[in-house]
Amino acid sequence: MKSLLSIHDLSPQQILALCQQALIHDNNPNSSEALSNKIVMTLFFEPSTRTRFSFESAALRLNAKILSFTPDVSSLQKGESFADTVRMAAAYADILIIRHPEEGTAVKAAAISSAPIINAGDGKNEHPTQTLLDLYTIFKQLQRLDGYHITVAGDLRYGRAPHSLIRALSMFDVKITLASPPDFTLPDDLKALIADKIVMETSDLSQALKSDFLYMTRVQKERFNPNDTGYSDDFILTKQMLSQNASPSLKVLHPLPRVNEITEDVDSTPYALYFEQAKNGVYMRIAILEYVAGVFKC
Ligand code: NCD
Repeated sequence: MKSLLSIHDLSPQQILALCQQALIHDNNPNSSEALSNKIVMTLFFEPSTRTRFSFESAALRLNAKILSFTPDVSSLQKGESFADTVRMAAAYADILIIRHPEEGTAVKAAAISSAPIINAGDGKNEHPTQTLLDLYTIFKQLQRLDGYHITVAGDLRYGRAPHSLIRALSMFDVKITLASPPDFTLPDDLKALIADKIVMETSDLSQALKSDFLYMTRVQKERFNPNDTGYSDDFILTKQMLSQNASPSLKVLHPLPRVNEITEDVDSTPYALYFEQAKNGVYMRIAILEYVAGVFKC
């Protein structure tokens, strides 16, 4: 069994293969017995709705058994370390799905754990399974993973979903527009990865809507430093902004949760793809669990 710690653990061919496998499950959502001899544990040290439930839903559809670790009522409250918690979890389960507020915890856990680790988000660093479901959503639209123009927008400084997405996009032939308020631009090391793909960088969202996809993200307030200045209130996508500026075929993605950066009047327009994207997470996470368990090889 293998861990999935970073999107860089996968080649473009493997990402494509995982999308094809997710599509097979999407077209045939009946449950299978593929993981009936496995125990999957979700260890979430940070809030989550979609990631935890879609992983648990995926595990149930593969007939795995699920253990769910809840920090508030665990021995963490007695002072047990993260390392010892992971050691024990690996003794009780076959696959550990970990989310943690600190960067690098997935790698740290993998060094300790005898069971494979799936990184479900480590601080602002990475969120590889989110990226896989994002790419699967694009794959479902286009039947391919290259040859499109995507705008990545919002809090590009602290958002792990855009950070993993940018790493993945660096592996494909795509055009990228970056749109964020001035204090929330993409870190330089990530920008360097996609330097040959960037067609525009702007702080004006209305100017960044002429692409095939808009990947909108929320401001990650929980990761702010005390000296960070505020997020600009005008960085909000509205139905009016879309109808005046967007290419007619633009599809809007968002990892969710949405706070106020997309107004609710966008939800009922043909632009909105984010709720379908969240649903796609179940099929991609079935494929990921099969891959990590070694029952799907790519
Ligand atoms: C993202 C996350 O946790 O990083 N959410 C998710 O997993 N769907 C994005 C976010 O919280 O803004």
